[in-house]
Amino acid sequence: MFASVLFQVIMNILLLGSGGRECALAWKLSQSSHLHNLWIAPGNAGTAQYGSNVAIPENDFEAIRQLVIDNDINMIVVGPEAPLAAGIVDFFKKEPAISHIGIIGPSEHGAMLESSKDFAKGFMLRNNIPTAGYKTFTIADIPAAHDFIDSMHPPYVLKADGLAQGKGVVICDNADEAKQTLAEMLKNKKFGKASERVVIEEFLRGIELSIFVLTDGVNYLLLPAAKDYKRIGDDDTGLNTGGMGAVSPVNFADEVFMKKVEERILKPTILGIQKENIDYKGFIFFGLMNCNGDPYVIEYNVRLGDPETEAIIPRIENDFVEMFQKTLSGKLHEARIEISEKYAVTVILASGGYPGDYEKGFEINGFEKIKEALIFHAGTKKSDAGSILTNGGRVMAVTALGETLELCREYVYNEIEKIHFQGVYYRKDIGKDLLHFQPLE
Ligand SMILES: Nc1ncnc2c1ncn2[C@@H]1O[C@H](COP(=O)(O)OP(=O)(O)O)[C@@H](O)[C@H]1O
Ligand SMILES: [Mg+2]
Repeated sequence: MFASVLFQVIMNILLLGSGGRECALAWKLSQSSHLHNLWIAPGNAGTAQYGSNVAIPENDFEAIRQLVIDNDINMIVVGPEAPLAAGIVDFFKKEPAISHIGIIGPSEHGAMLESSKDFAKGFMLRNNIPTAGYKTFTIADIPAAHDFIDSMHPPYVLKADGLAQGKGVVICDNADEAKQTLAEMLKNKKFGKASERVVIEEFLRGIELSIFVLTDGVNYLLLPAAKDYKRIGDDDTGLNTGGMGAVSPVNFADEVFMKKVEERILKPTILGIQKENIDYKGFIFFGLMNCNGDPYVIEYNVRLGDPETEAIIPRIENDFVEMFQKTLSGKLHEARIEISEKYAVTVILASGGYPGDYEKGFEINGFEKIKEALIFHAGTKKSDAGSILTNGGRVMAVTALGETLELCREYVYNEIEKIHFQGVYYRKDIGKDLLHFQPLE
């Protein structure tokens, strides 16, 4: 006991990002006995409760470098994909003064699993990982793309190759619409550089879920599964958003299905990372489709999802600093994941008008009365007078834990009633579709 206290490593940690995901990560990191100081760049009004916000954009590597040196920071945890895709891991590795700093997140090469849909599809093909059939096209191959579309059955899935803030995927009901969308992407550069290449793939029918692992590049820990709700309206209607809610666990992801996920998807992915010499220490998000009990990969993300993070982190009982230390030292096989049996339901409170135009700067009241739920700030900021103001489309994530999905829904929706700001909007049906779900097969 004495020895373990004596040798306990205390860390200074920098967390990059500013959303609900980062607020949940900051909350969890702040509970660790291994944490000394926590910085969040740039953070939000919620993360400021758990550490010091620093007004540095998450992609300003020079400023981050200076912050790390000035404050003796030992570890960086990267929330969003942009700094990873821009090569923050490689930037730190290159410079002797900072090359020893551990970063939770993959190299630029590894981040291509998210930043290039074509790279991800090629990786899955090379490593025998089930995914929808596809071909990739550039502006030079439009006739071949038309032939490919004509050889397929509707609907057609067209994906901009690069990062497009969750807007780069278009599903078309008929071939003409698909060809027109293709022209918009390739010729009119609808998504800029991101749509210089377009992946066209088969449509998969099924029910979606998100699986997460933390990997040191060789070993991995399976984190709780989640289902997210992307559309703005109840019953999955209206425009796509960054995510309006999440539920964990996913009751149709039973043992039989999860065994298939591990054998057909998780293990081959980690092996592929090794075979292809990808430097990867961080989270992997697997967007999966359950097609009649068989899992297919829709996409990889190289970080945790938002709002799934706000539903899964409260269910993880491990010390995150310890888990990250083991990740960075390649000893994740020594860790065991401890997951609470409780359900979690997360509901996002959004600004009226989101995902279209919306106003910011409204005062948020009542959340201090919340007792039966966790609040993770997303788009918030503190006014000079000290009140909390709306500062984005997705304003707050409210998570309730409970013995059953029904109870979680009851708690979360009761608590949300207490929170007020002008124009507040949220979905009323998060988790409703899973209440009476009959497992597939
Ligand atoms: N092959 C597919 N079949 C059916 N639906 C798909 C397919 N690919 C993507 N989708 C749908 O489109 C959404 C967005 O696609 P995804 O590849 O996750 O892109 P991104 O998250 O980068 O926008 C998915 O969550 C899924 O609902
Ligand atoms: Mg996606």
